[in-house]
Amino acid sequence: MNNYLSRFDLRTIDELAPSGEPERQNYYMMVVRKILQAKFQDRMASGEALKYYGAERLQELTEKQAVGYAHIATFGCQMNARDSEKLLGILEQIGYLETDSEDADFVLYNTCTVRDNANQKVYGRLGYLQTVKRKNPDMLIALCGCMMQEQAAVAKVKKSYSHVDIIFGTHNIFKLAELLYRRLTGGKLIADVWEGTDAIVEDLPVERKYPFKSGVNIMFGCNNFCSYCIVPYVRGRERSRKPEDILDEIRRLVADGVVEVMLLGQNVNSYGKNLEHPVSFAKLLRQVDQIEGLERIRFMTSHPKDLSDELIQAMKECKKVCNHLHLPLQSGSSRILKRMNRRYSKEDYLALVDRIRAAIPDISLTTDIIVGFPGETEEDFEETLDVVRRVRYDSAFTFIYSIRTGTPAASMEQVPEAVVKERFDRLLSEVQKIAGEVCGRDTGTVQKVLVESPDDHQEGYVTGRLTNNTTVHFPGDVSLIGKIVDVRLEESRGFYYMGQPAENMEG
Ligand code: 5AD
Ligand code: SF4
Repeated sequence: MNNYLSRFDLRTIDELAPSGEPERQNYYMMVVRKILQAKFQDRMASGEALKYYGAERLQELTEKQAVGYAHIATFGCQMNARDSEKLLGILEQIGYLETDSEDADFVLYNTCTVRDNANQKVYGRLGYLQTVKRKNPDMLIALCGCMMQEQAAVAKVKKSYSHVDIIFGTHNIFKLAELLYRRLTGGKLIADVWEGTDAIVEDLPVERKYPFKSGVNIMFGCNNFCSYCIVPYVRGRERSRKPEDILDEIRRLVADGVVEVMLLGQNVNSYGKNLEHPVSFAKLLRQVDQIEGLERIRFMTSHPKDLSDELIQAMKECKKVCNHLHLPLQSGSSRILKRMNRRYSKEDYLALVDRIRAAIPDISLTTDIIVGFPGETEEDFEETLDVVRRVRYDSAFTFIYSIRTGTPAASMEQVPEAVVKERFDRLLSEVQKIAGEVCGRDTGTVQKVLVESPDDHQEGYVTGRLTNNTTVHFPGDVSLIGKIVDVRLEESRGFYYMGQPAENMEG
């Protein structure tokens, strides 16, 4: 046994562990911190720490009483981004400092498997990590997220990437500290992937990426089983958080400086249906809108089949709800939509867009579209182009259909690659042409901009977003970050604006 471990009575540690959550994880965070502190002291005493970290990094670690550096790479969607903030919260509680570099003591990949290219990226990066770990055998590598919910992916990692130390899934991210404890105290590869769960563990530490905005999970999982999609298999059935827990979390965030929240769920429009006391998403939105100090509310993702008139009304009446709706189309062909199991037709979708625009005329609409779904003909594809031309989206995420093993569409007849590629290019240029035309519609007006960061490209400028999510660059300094300011939109450059602070324009 390693020196530092012999100073701990491991059996007693396990016996004393509370059984309830989050107490159990808080306990393991404390225990792991002590173990890693002991390890760090040993490495200091032997001179190994100085050799490995170098003087500068070692000074930072000692000054901050940290146990090492941790790096999290996040793949995929906003849900994963939010999960990574929770994972970082746990790692920081343990005593790790976050670093951008993969040259770290703890490297965690929060994976995505929605399309195959996401998986390939992870395998590529894992190959590279092997060389990094050879130089630092103490490095720990963990994988979590959607890809780990797939048995085939876990089997491949176990077989070909033996330098991985910990594997867990989407249902037990809250357990990171306990899994790390198991790995440190003997286990070689710790793999703990749950098939599903009813549990929602509240009140674990979270380390937000932005001080002024935050994602807030309102529900987990998806029950829709669109025939191309792997999400219901890897994220499990729909589970909604209680409104009180969501509202409490947002109030705490606001007290901590947050002005914008993004309510997150795979299908927010079916929020609340499985609660003991069912609540609609529209009602939740109205309650969130009442929270004092909160300025902006966004939400993602809406399924067109569940978007109710009650919700449209709530969006219209709630002042803080942003002027933007992401409404995935997937295909404009009713025939393909049926094969996708989307449960709406082209006409239903267009009628819904009409109802939304009648209530909120200047709303910005964005979408997701899949090209080359099995059986898609040229006529089907033309239907998609037709919807794109009629709706005129502010932007659209376009995806080439990717076979996901185990989903119904995987066994349908596939469209030849060259045909798909040609359609994809046509769709993309149409989408971009229209976006370029519609995005500039507010040119010349003064709008509220939430400043998010210094401008990457221009010294003395900052970058922020309009309520409809369009990016604006204007002269300003970092003291504006997190503030909402009036900006005159002077020039549209396709997908973004250049502006001037409105005060400067007066007089
Ligand atoms: N192939 C291509 N795109 C997919 N999406 C989901 N599954 C697939 C797949 N198998 C897209 C959908 C969804 C977005 C998050 O990813 O458009 O809305
Ligand atoms: Fe996938 Fe459809 Fe669920 Fe979205 S609604 S996560 S596309 S199954």
